[in-house]
Amino acid sequence: EQIEKGGYDHFMLKEIYEQPSVIKDTYRGRLLADQGIVRLGGLENYIEKFTNAQRIIIVACGTSWHAGLVAEYIFEDLVRIPVEVEYASEFRYRNPIISEKDVVIAISQSGETADTLAAIKLAKSKGAFVYGVCNVVGSSISRETHSGTYTHAGPEIGVASTKAFTTQITVLAMIALRLAKAKGTISQSDFMLYLRALELIPNQVEEALKTDDKITEISAAFKDARNFLYLGRGYNFPVALEGALKLKEISYIHAEGYPAAEMKHGPIALIDEQMPVVVIAIKSDHYDKVVSNIQEIKARKGKIIAVVSKGDTVVKEMADYVMEVPHTMEALTPLLTTIPLQLLSYHIAVMLNRNVDQPRNLAKSVTVE
Ligand code: AGP
Repeated sequence: EQIEKGGYDHFMLKEIYEQPSVIKDTYRGRLLADQGIVRLGGLENYIEKFTNAQRIIIVACGTSWHAGLVAEYIFEDLVRIPVEVEYASEFRYRNPIISEKDVVIAISQSGETADTLAAIKLAKSKGAFVYGVCNVVGSSISRETHSGTYTHAGPEIGVASTKAFTTQITVLAMIALRLAKAKGTISQSDFMLYLRALELIPNQVEEALKTDDKITEISAAFKDARNFLYLGRGYNFPVALEGALKLKEISYIHAEGYPAAEMKHGPIALIDEQMPVVVIAIKSDHYDKVVSNIQEIKARKGKIIAVVSKGDTVVKEMADYVMEVPHTMEALTPLLTTIPLQLLSYHIAVMLNRNVDQPRNLAKSVTVE
């Protein structure tokens, strides 16, 4: 097992550090930025199914559901098709309205999640076309779907999903770009910008990983907190949910993810000097609004840990701690902002002596209801 961990203390840490290479593996041969090409074998024959769809419904669970939420923002932004993201477990039991005019995307690392598999079977029985985004080759979900694209994350052993998430977003972004090109909803210049930006992501993840020492320091300062709040907006709202899930799973600290603007509708009541608030405050269309949220937290003496864009000075002044990530196009920022949050949860769990790779009560793939 020590050999399999490749010198890392835990599989989770190894998998976090593998992200630059597995993201590259996931787009290799599919994304040719210089030539302006995105080509996904499983998609080419079904482009019209997607572009003619009245709706895309994404079904998944847990972290894969969070990747689906990121995809909702990317698809609606770039492809202009309405998207709904459903917990597979809810979808399968609520007599959903679905027809052959809908396209369903099922996302699953393991390809064995019982609820997602059942949701696929239900969608197929109602005539929908079902596309899979799976990591495990030959898994039940990859066999049950009509077509699909594999993520090339390699085996993910840690129960807390890390590299599966970023490779899922990589695949979903490529699908969105291919469809946007086919549908004509993206200009050639924007298309090229996205391709080049996606190609740069592995190096930028590498850069984000270099803040690990700083994050270890932040983890030591907050490891005894009883609760955490995670806030993000737009593309980074799902990242806030994912950051909170990671912390809950492996450190057993209660954490909630929230859209930053919803704070005033309830969670703000929780904020006092005992409450660390992780805010994703990168440069984006929502930057000024997130800065005002930070002011509101500060006024109530909450502790602020902010994920900021490299070179940020405004939030740096206001936050107790910052974790920097490089700049990229807004739709791709989840690939970077999620990195410090993975490391934060990892270090806190290690400091609390938790079983990081096999947290209590959890299984790597949930093959029962
Ligand atoms: C993530 O850290 C979890 N362990 C869990 O939420 C997981 O993402 C979920 O069970 C879905 O698994 P799948 O991607 O294999 O379908």
